Amino acid sequence: MRVAIGSDHAGYEQKEQLKGHLASRGIDVEDVGTFSAGESVDYPDYAFAVAARVASGDAEFGVLVCGTGLGMAIAANKVDGVRAVSVVSPKFAELARAHNDANVVTVSGRFVAEEDNKQVIDAFLGTPFEGGRHAGRVEKINRKRS
Ligand code: RB5
Repeated sequence: MRVAIGSDHAGYEQKEQLKGHLASRGIDVEDVGTFSAGESVDYPDYAFAVAARVASGDAEFGVLVCGTGLGMAIAANKVDGVRAVSVVSPKFAELARAHNDANVVTVSGRFVAEEDNKQVIDAFLGTPFEGGRHAGRVEKINRKRS
């Protein structure tokens, strides 16, 4: 499995930890930056970089970390084909995959502990889309153009 990961300065420390966690699970991780916590950067730049890799099929899933996880989700969802969710519990991560076929998960580097985010990400990557009654609903989202 290939996963693209990115963060802004507020998510940098956790991005590094989460990247190591994914690699230790044998997951092929591409890090799009940012590469330090010292410089203030704009989260949409990293959201778009991860979203582009998921939309093109280059990565199966994306993981994004910012202060809250919220801005990253808003930005990533601007990219066609991306269904990004901001998640703080493993149960919601599971449901976002099973029911919504979400392909990007965004987490908070400032307000949620790293151990909790690891569980969120493991639940997200470990849950398949259920399809069935959910498939047509996701298809409606995918077809929507503004
Ligand atoms: C950066 O200060 C912060 O606004 C950003 O990391 C994020 O929380 C935005 O949603």
